[in-house]
Parts: sequence; C-alpha cells; structure tokens
Amino acid sequence: MEYRIFESTDELALACADIFTALLKEKPNAVLGLATGASPVKTYKELIRRYKAGEISFAGVTTFNLDEYCDLPKDDKNSYYTFMHENLFDHVDIKEENTHLMDGNAADPEAEAAAFDAMIEQAGGVDIQLLGVGRNGHIGFNEPADHFTEGSFKVKLNDSTIEANSIYFDENPMPRYALTMGIGTIMKAGKIVLIATGKKKAEAIRNAVKGEVTPRCPVSVLQNHPDALLLLDREAASLL
Ligand code: GLP
Repeated sequence: MEYRIFESTDELALACADIFTALLKEKPNAVLGLATGASPVKTYKELIRRYKAGEISFAGVTTFNLDEYCDLPKDDKNSYYTFMHENLFDHVDIKEENTHLMDGNAADPEAEAAAFDAMIEQAGGVDIQLLGVGRNGHIGFNEPADHFTEGSFKVKLNDSTIEANSIYFDENPMPRYALTMGIGTIMKAGKIVLIATGKKKAEAIRNAVKGEVTPRCPVSVLQNHPDALLLLDREAASLL
C-alpha cells in the first residue's frame, strides 16, 4: 500500500483531482466509485472547476456511491443523495441516470444492496474508488467486526460513528442504520484512492499501514489491494 503526504489539504485535493482527471482523459466513460463526508469535498470542488474550465467532462461517466443512510428521506439535507448533488452532480455534465446511490428506504434492503452490486458488475466494475476513513477505521460504513464483509449490505452503525456524524444532524436524529458497499465490493475496484486528513484519523491510518490486516480495523484490508493509494496530510500521517 502506497501513501503520499501533503503539506496542505489544498495540495492533497489537487493531487486527487489529478488522478481522476487522468482517468477521465484516458477513459471518458469511466466508472467512478464516490464517497461522501468532509474528506472529498475539496477534490470535488477542484473537479467542478476543471469541468467549468473545459478541461474534463463527466458526460460519459457512471458513478456508484459507497453508502447511504437508512430511514432518511432521499432529499433530506443529510442524505448522501443530497450531498452528492450539492457537492458534485449539480455542477457538472453528468447524466442523472448514470449516478447510482443505494436507496436507504428500500422495502427489501438486502435485495437493494444485491442489485447495486450487480449494477456495478454490469457497468464493467469500478475503475477508481474514492474513500474516506472513519476514526475507528471504517470504510464506507463497514464498521469494525469479526469478519470482513463481502457484498453490499445493511449495517447497524456503531456508537463512535453515530457520535462522529451526529454533528451534521440538528433537526432529525441521526439514523442508526445504513446501506454500504461491502469490503468485497470495494476491493474489486481497479484502483483505490483514500483521503485522510487531521489528527483524528492518525490512529486509523497507523493501523491501516503498519497494523495487521484485520476486520477490527476495516481499512487495513487495503494492504491486500494491488493498487491502493493513501493521500494524507501531516496530521493524519503523524503516527506513521
Ligand atoms: C462516514 C462515511 C464514510 C466516510 C467517513 C469519513 O461515516 N460513511 O464513507 O468516508 O465517515 O468521513 P469524513 O470524511 O467526514 O471524516
């Protein structure tokens, strides 16, 4: 597993945008795996800027998002559907029908998750999967567990995730469940790029890079991926 350390989150975002730009130039119909949370926001801003400058187009791109909350209206301000539209989709030329997020309100969540994995396969698989990481080492919403998960599934969020993400929920209580790509789904991506910034991620990053591969720290599984790259700021890299 390779990692790069940046002096600022701006430089990190530029480097991440460069990776996506290179892919879009080489493969205009690329399949992107996308993430939410604070980590990718600056990268999305830079990709929007490059689109507006005429440097890249998303017209042929297909996207699949890592995860979505359950029991939250699709258009709630905290849904990942809303996040993706506000932070990327509404500002570029991507076709709405080519953007895919799981439906956290599906009557049959397991069928929804299985259909999502099948759609990824049908699209030819994810070329680059963008990831953030939770303080507890979760990727997507794959929480620390006894086993690595396979396909996408419905997960009960654990207390540390609820605490970390509750800051975004001022009106409705934070959902207790989510749909997430499984570890197996994530690991099928051709390339994985993970962004981690700030001191709160330092321990997860140390465990990811230097620890054993264990489902107790889900991000450590990236050690088994042939093309995984961590983009870190100094604080996130401070325990390496
Ligand atoms: C959230 C999301 C993850 C995200 C992570 C880090 O709970 N489910 O996909 O990568 O936590 O979030 P942030 O980038 O805001 O630190």
